Amino acid sequence: MARKKIALIGAGNIGGTLAHLIGLKQLGDVVMFDVFPGVAAGKALDIMQSGPVDGFDSNMAGTGDYAAIAGADVVIVTAGFPRMPGMSRDDLLTKNAGVMGQVAEGIKTYAPDAFVICITNPLDVMVWALQQKSGLPANKVVGMAGVLDSSRFRLFLAQEFNVSVEDVTAFVLGGHGDTMVPLTRYSTVAGIPVPDLVKMGWTTQEKIDAIVNRTANGGGEIVKLLEKGSAFYAPAASAIAMAEAYLLDKKRVLPCAVMLNGEYGLSDFYVGVPVVIGAGGVERIVEVQFTPEEKTAFDKSCDAVKKLIEDFKKLGV
Ligand code: APR
Repeated sequence: MARKKIALIGAGNIGGTLAHLIGLKQLGDVVMFDVFPGVAAGKALDIMQSGPVDGFDSNMAGTGDYAAIAGADVVIVTAGFPRMPGMSRDDLLTKNAGVMGQVAEGIKTYAPDAFVICITNPLDVMVWALQQKSGLPANKVVGMAGVLDSSRFRLFLAQEFNVSVEDVTAFVLGGHGDTMVPLTRYSTVAGIPVPDLVKMGWTTQEKIDAIVNRTANGGGEIVKLLEKGSAFYAPAASAIAMAEAYLLDKKRVLPCAVMLNGEYGLSDFYVGVPVVIGAGGVERIVEVQFTPEEKTAFDKSCDAVKKLIEDFKKLGV
């Protein structure tokens, strides 16, 4: 069987980390596209030169020509500008809006059958724009946010309970912004829901509230520390989990930004909900029952995404 081909649009911090992980996990060959093709080619060559040491044979190439992504099985999009201190994800709207049109055109022309994962922020709007402009089926165009937000939530919970991250599951819904909705009721340690752990005296509600708040602002905490750019290791790992679920038909249940089509009583925009990812792309959207408070928080998050889509439309790009 021929190797899988994975195209990375954007060869910056996340793009380079993605390529390295694809090599280490032997997921396939890599083509990195960037408006700075030398950077893409340099990173591709550097990572390929680690193959003999780490034992992987992936071919990696960097390019400034979209034709090189032809036939890609998966495309992961990080093209655009990262956040700087003091910026919200939404502040990136005007900077990254124009980029999505070019990327959509490239994918539509050369890799229309690919499974496309968007990482560029503001995520929910950018992935919506990518799907609209490329015309690819919505079940093949998803946004990476929930896996990252859940991973942050899992880490903070594991630290609080002093247990392995492996035994913590977490559930985060909504847009990838300050209005995201971490659902503690569906977050567990080895199946024990967090509210039960509060009752068992493992922690307090105040501490859980602080962890929820830290999760919602998890990206900003890193932007502040880095001072020049935004998180890249955990975002790359999260997108790779999604790509792996598709390439290996794992049917993983992962929180992803997807186009709603009547689910949760909503339609025609992207927001983070749990979905099944397999060889068919988004194979199923999971509709959980909300408490009234959760519904209010989810609606608020959806409203924030919808407002940003309206702002995007006004830009006329
Ligand atoms: N086409 C292709 N690549 C582009 C384009 C474009 N039109 N515009 C910019 N790029 C490239 C840049 O040259 C750069 O190499 O995108 C890359 C972005 O890399 P970084 O600046 O290192 O940003 P990164 O940390 O990888 O984040 C990328 O993901 O998480 C989001 O908010 C983050 O939107 C940002 C994106």
